[in-house]
Amino acid sequence: MSDIKNIKNDYSTKLNKNLSLEEINQIKTELFGKNGLISSQFKNIGSIPEIDRKKFASDLNQIKNELQNSIANKINEIESKKINEKLEKEKIDVTLPERSFVRGKIHPVSQTIDEISSIFSEIGFSVEEGPDIENEYNNFTALNTPDNHPARDMHDTFYLDENKEILLRTHTSPVQIRTMLKDKPPFKIIAPGRTYRSDSDQTHAPMFHQVEGLHIDKDINMGHLKGCLNYFIKEFFEVEKIKMRFRPSHFPFTEPSAEVDIGYEIKDGKLVIGEGDQWLEILGCGMVHPNVLKNVKVDPSKYQGYAFGIGIDRLAMLKYGINDLRAFFDCDYRWLNHFGFDPLDVPTNYRGLSR
Ligand code: DAH
Repeated sequence: MSDIKNIKNDYSTKLNKNLSLEEINQIKTELFGKNGLISSQFKNIGSIPEIDRKKFASDLNQIKNELQNSIANKINEIESKKINEKLEKEKIDVTLPERSFVRGKIHPVSQTIDEISSIFSEIGFSVEEGPDIENEYNNFTALNTPDNHPARDMHDTFYLDENKEILLRTHTSPVQIRTMLKDKPPFKIIAPGRTYRSDSDQTHAPMFHQVEGLHIDKDINMGHLKGCLNYFIKEFFEVEKIKMRFRPSHFPFTEPSAEVDIGYEIKDGKLVIGEGDQWLEILGCGMVHPNVLKNVKVDPSKYQGYAFGIGIDRLAMLKYGINDLRAFFDCDYRWLNHFGFDPLDVPTNYRGLSR
């Protein structure tokens, strides 16, 4: 009996001192660990003579509770002291101006869209937008892509209803239709935005970005298209000269249609745009098909023009040396910190697009 009283007295004195959390934990183990002083007393209960046993057990329990309470109080005391110290240190006077800023970064895709918009606005294009959820008519039929046209299969469309009337737009081309339906010619617009196809690997993501271009007026010809794209590529890659080729292609909504490749080479492990004898496909384009103009009540004998569709993610990867498209959409803050852009550095043609 006196044994446990001694333990209690000893440890109560110890616990009254100024202790660190480690020291308290040490005491806790000494008392209540597997072979701790109190734990072993519990194992002794059986060997105590029967008349004393009940009293011993009840005293032991009381002492155990008292010691446990003192330990818990002590821990509480230390923790609240820590919190108070921290609060004292972190006190914020909200009336004072901010001294250290944590500034977010602009995603390379957003940066690229801003750059593209800036470049095209210099030559008179305005920016249009359309919804991500489109109807089948704007996405295909009005763009001269009727039912059963093979181009529909090639788009790996995400349909949103059983009747295949509502879908996630597979390209930004439906914004051509929306723009021409709501206004009268001439039209000179670009339409950047998200597009969707059921496709995913290192160079394809189910959600990606395109920018559509449309220029309709009297007397617009393929020379204008070529001049416009040549200007754009040079400005975008910030180079004086660019090698560019138009390759015949097919899109239902343009006639003739072409795909545009730009020349590049790998120099010291780095991609150099505008030189070399390698070709990289970057966009599709053509003269808007008369059927498309008819569908939006524009008279093709009076008005004609060109359209183009550029993959934005691809351009961003090329310009900023990013190898894996999927990293764009991982939402990894470290990646964004590395590849992102200063939000106050808005790209403009005269100040430089990306510095
Ligand atoms: N919409 C096409 C695609 O996603 C790209 C395109 C090609 C757009 C030619 C155009 C165009 O406006 O004229 O594959």
